[in-house]
Amino acid sequence: CGDRIALTPPMGWNSWNCFAHEVSAEKIKRAANAMVKSGLINHGWTYINIDDFWENHRDSKDPDLQGKFRDDAGNIIANKRFPDMKGLADDVHKLGLKIGLYSSPGPWTCGGSAGSYGYEKNDAESYAKWGFDYLKYDWCSYGNVIDGLPDNDPDKVSSLSYKGGEKLNTAIKPFQMMGDYLRAQPRDIVFSLCQYGMSDVWKWGDSVHGSAWRTTNDITDTWASVKSIALAQDKAAPYAKPGNWNDPDMLVVGQVGWGNPHPSKLKPDEQYLHISLWSMFAAPLLIGCDMEKMDDFTLNLLTNDEVIDINQDPLGKQAVCLQTIGDLKIYVKALEDGGKAIGFCNFGTEPLDMNYADFRKLGLKGRFTVRDLWRQKQVATVDAKNSKLKVKVPAHGVLLYKFSTIK
Ligand code: GLA
Repeated sequence: CGDRIALTPPMGWNSWNCFAHEVSAEKIKRAANAMVKSGLINHGWTYINIDDFWENHRDSKDPDLQGKFRDDAGNIIANKRFPDMKGLADDVHKLGLKIGLYSSPGPWTCGGSAGSYGYEKNDAESYAKWGFDYLKYDWCSYGNVIDGLPDNDPDKVSSLSYKGGEKLNTAIKPFQMMGDYLRAQPRDIVFSLCQYGMSDVWKWGDSVHGSAWRTTNDITDTWASVKSIALAQDKAAPYAKPGNWNDPDMLVVGQVGWGNPHPSKLKPDEQYLHISLWSMFAAPLLIGCDMEKMDDFTLNLLTNDEVIDINQDPLGKQAVCLQTIGDLKIYVKALEDGGKAIGFCNFGTEPLDMNYADFRKLGLKGRFTVRDLWRQKQVATVDAKNSKLKVKVPAHGVLLYKFSTIK
């Protein structure tokens, strides 16, 4: 793995999907405390990541967000809601957690806060000096400043064809610059690229010291969003490996909703499918909800160690869909111990009930025990040659199994 970091997918929380422009140091501390009190910390959840709106804003009417962007030496100044960035990082570290923040290679972030354009070195140094462990670096206004391209609209930016020659260099350059400056700092800082999958980032993200990169557009807590993002991941799958993760965006379970949290609009089975697939994808797992308001269902979704183990498997392979039968898609992820995680995912609106026998299409040979990872119990033994397995999957739901060879 050379000198890569994040050898398993980062696990943590991000402020965007619940607090958006209302994030503050107080809310970050409360999130960190909630991660400890809820027990999430004991299941591998580690990063507390501040998203957009910790810097001053270009035109907000909110007095908290108005102020100088930088000091005379060019160092970024956090807004009034973040009076002491180093103190905040220290507080989060004292709880046994790590802390992350957010910026853009453009002059403005997607929300209109100050970005890093022209001050990349200062910013990398500030993050390290304050003690931050993770940077999400979001394209946003960069295309606008270098190329007159649309600002602030992930939908438009992700369809730009920065695919080859000079255009590809344009897409890579700002991440290369920040990646190099982060690497020059005397601490490990996970570098998470956010540009919505533009320019096949999975092919070059490693070369700019990226630990993770967004493959697709922003997620929302709807079935349509989760489904379209899930079905768009296979193209990037071969590039996932320890230290390099494809990021399909945050987990939209619990209370989510940009400053005005409401219970996730995903139905319970859709949430099982969402968490199962993100685990199978070896995706960074970043909780998007208000962790002070998690109910038992949400907490159970996020603390099933057998499911988390699939995500954190040290082999670092990403599942791909190996078979489609109508609305059923069967995803397979190779595991370090020789076993395979297999997700029977029903994307249709009707429940499915079938006897499944195509094991060899999933690359299985020999005899296996089959363990249901959500229920944490063995449900069958199968012989790949001639067994039938009862596969009963609710609409928009999943069966997440681990197949282990019987020696
Ligand atoms: C973009 C990103 C989101 C979030 C917002 C913040 O839309 O994709 O994840 O960071 O910017 O403004």
